[in-house]
Amino acid sequence: MLRAVLLGPPGAGKGTQAVKLVDKYQVPHISTGDIFRKNISEGTELGVKAKSYIDAGKLVPDELTCEIVTSRLLEDDCANGFLLDGFPRTIFQADKLDQFLKENGMKLDIVINLSVPSEQIISRLSGRRICRSCGASYNIVTIPPKKEGVCDRCGGELYQRKDDAPETVASRLKTYDEQTAPLVDYYKNTGVLADFDGTKDAEAIFGDIVQTIG
Ligand code: AP5
Repeated sequence: MLRAVLLGPPGAGKGTQAVKLVDKYQVPHISTGDIFRKNISEGTELGVKAKSYIDAGKLVPDELTCEIVTSRLLEDDCANGFLLDGFPRTIFQADKLDQFLKENGMKLDIVINLSVPSEQIISRLSGRRICRSCGASYNIVTIPPKKEGVCDRCGGELYQRKDDAPETVASRLKTYDEQTAPLVDYYKNTGVLADFDGTKDAEAIFGDIVQTIG
C-alpha cells in the first residue's frame, strides 16, 4: 500500500522515478500530463481544451484537472494506493485532493519532492525523447537509448515533446515558480514532505526514495 505524490519542477525526473516506483509498489501511476497528452493525440474534447494551455506552458484550469483526478482515484485499482505524478500543482488542487482523501478515509503517506536547478532542467528537457508506443522516457545525453530514435523496451519510435521547445520550457518553469513551488511549504506543514536531490543518478534517487518509504 502506498499513497504518494511526486512533486518537482518540469524535468525534475518525476516520470522517470514514477516508472520505477509503480513497478516496486504495484500501484497505478496517475500522471495528469500523460492523461492530457493521450487525450490530445486522440482528439477528445478534453484534449482540445487542454492543448492550448500545455502548448503555452500554462496550467490546465484547476476545476477540470481536479475532476479528472478525483474520478480516476475512485476506480477500483486505486483501492490499495496510487502514485500521483504532476498533481497537485496548485494550492487549489492540493486543497481539493485533501478534501477528497478525507471524505474517503484516506491520507497521503509521502510527498516526494525532487529538486533540480533550472540550468540542468533546460538541458535535460532539450535532450528528452519519449517513446510513441509505450511512453518510456530517454535522454540523448544522460539516458540514451541503445539505438538512436528507437525505444529499448518496445522498439517504438522516439519523439520530442512539443512543450520541450526552449521558449515553452521557460514558461513552464515560470508557471512552476509561481503556482507549484508554494506546495513545498504546504506539504512541509502537514509533515508528509520528503526532499530528494534530483541531480543524482536516477537509480541512486530511486534508492533514496525507497529507503525513506521504508
Ligand atoms: P507533465 O507531463 O506533468 O510535465 P512536467 O511536470 O513539466 O514534467 P515533465 O514530464 O516535463 O518532467 P518529469 O519531472 O516527469 O521528468 P522526466 O522523468 O521526464 O505536464 C505537462 C503539462 O500538462 C503541464 O505543463 C501543464 O500544462 C499540464 N498539466 C499537467 N498536470 C497538470 C495539473 N495538475 N494541473 C494543470 N495542468 C497540468 O525527466 C526529464 C528528462 O531528464 C528525461 O529526458 C529523463 O530521461 C532525464 N532524467 C530523469 N532523471 C534523471 C537523472 N536523475 N539524471 C539525469 N537525467 C535524468
